[in-house]
Amino acid sequence: MDSKKESVLIMDFGGQYSQLIARRVRECNVYCELSSYKITAEEIKAAGYMGIIFTGGPNSTYEKDAPKCDPKIFQLGIPILGICYGAQLMAQSLGGKVKSSDKKEYGKTEAECNTSSLIFHSAKSKTVVWMSHTDYIFQVPHGFKITAISESCPVVAMEDLKRKLFALQFHPEVMHTEQGMLYLRNFLYNACECTARWQMSSFVESTIKELRKKIGDKKVLCALSGGVDSSVAAVLVHKAVGDQLTCIFVDHGLLRKDEGDQVENVFRKQFKMNLIRVNAQERFLSKLAGVTEPEKKRKIIGEEFIRVFEDESKKLGKIEFLCQGTIYPDVVESGVGEAAVIKSHHNVGGLPEDIGFEGLIEPLRDLFKDEVRKAGLELGIPEFLVYRQPFPGPGLAIRILGEVTEDKLEILKSADAIMREEFAENGIERDADQYFAVLTGIKSVGVMGDGRTYDNTIALRAVTTSDFMTADWARIPYDVLEKISNRIINEVPNVNRVVYDITSKPPATVEWE
Ligand code: XMP
Repeated sequence: MDSKKESVLIMDFGGQYSQLIARRVRECNVYCELSSYKITAEEIKAAGYMGIIFTGGPNSTYEKDAPKCDPKIFQLGIPILGICYGAQLMAQSLGGKVKSSDKKEYGKTEAECNTSSLIFHSAKSKTVVWMSHTDYIFQVPHGFKITAISESCPVVAMEDLKRKLFALQFHPEVMHTEQGMLYLRNFLYNACECTARWQMSSFVESTIKELRKKIGDKKVLCALSGGVDSSVAAVLVHKAVGDQLTCIFVDHGLLRKDEGDQVENVFRKQFKMNLIRVNAQERFLSKLAGVTEPEKKRKIIGEEFIRVFEDESKKLGKIEFLCQGTIYPDVVESGVGEAAVIKSHHNVGGLPEDIGFEGLIEPLRDLFKDEVRKAGLELGIPEFLVYRQPFPGPGLAIRILGEVTEDKLEILKSADAIMREEFAENGIERDADQYFAVLTGIKSVGVMGDGRTYDNTIALRAVTTSDFMTADWARIPYDVLEKISNRIINEVPNVNRVVYDITSKPPATVEWE
């Protein structure tokens, strides 16, 4: 079964929640793709989409340069759901009227819905929805019925059942909208007649078949880091072509304690994969000697990573394909959607595309992160790898402030391992999205027994965040902090002080360098 056959198009008008809408649709087990609002009716027809969603956006529909869709889209007979700006655009394009509100309704709003309409079928009639636009529809186009209202907004929702056109002034995709998922399901299943066939099990099955066909009897090389994306990509390729895949795991010596061995164990012992582990700590440390500037450290590590990878791959003779763990947000952020893009990071550990292969294999190009995790579990990858917190490419080098040396690495690895052990022991691993120790480079005075000490300060950092662009410091229970602090002081030589970082991002960043 091809689970992508039933596909819905998300047309991006620059809204901040466009990717979230796509994720929500996928959570309803319906495959969807994001595109710019500039897509034409012909292109949509040719692709055979079963439904279209117009996202929100920051503009006002009556502005001169406001983004508009190809008007022929409304004549395709494909069900359309307009959200926020998308709703206003639908109204205006079809002869209705939109204006700016004097009485701003923003955030949580109580709405009254007509439960005999398609979108609000089996929903509560009085409910909370989330508004984030100050324009609103004040006159619906011919053929439309108003299906929800609120105290200060005359058209919270409207629909034209005959033409299968639906519009919501609010955001069904955000969790503050109490029954948002139900409205989306009603649109997808009842208006578009999708059948919830996008499942990770069928994705895994069909991807393995496609990979087999694409790769044939050729060879594939993969740079495995032990992160979720590269691990899932490699296991998929391995399931498809077995020993035709070789993985190179560059251990730069800047990984967390025991991490290199864990990665090796999982992929070599459990999955019996062809894994080459390159122990390159000395090579990286000698390049980093004397370097204190964070961006310079990043650059050195990124470049050295490519050198090591190239040196190893040369030894393997001709390999046709390179496998990479690119995921859908990477694809979208490099130019599919419309939203202002703030690329997540200097992706150290990535490989340039012109590294000398015939082609790229990117089996996760269509998946969001949570889907990659589900696929990983489906493939039998252990939970500790699947739910691993993000770990920066330059590793512990950017958590040791100043010059990186072997001694400092030892101190940091031990302190960080204690923090992780205590998080696990106390069941709070999922309470923070990222947590780690930092060797601050500060030395301070302390007392131990009868003697005075002058030693290192370890900082603990734990943050909660949904996108890593902004973050809050995690409210870790005092007794857990106390236990971590005691253990670090007692078990890690040359540390006499432990502090907890209580700064959010902004103004701080998650990492200290
Ligand atoms: P910051 O410190 O910028 O971190 O708030 C946000 C997220 O990005 C990760 N990070 C990196 N990831 N290479 C990476 O692959 C890097 O150089 C890098 N610097 C920061 C950081 O761990 C956090 O998840």
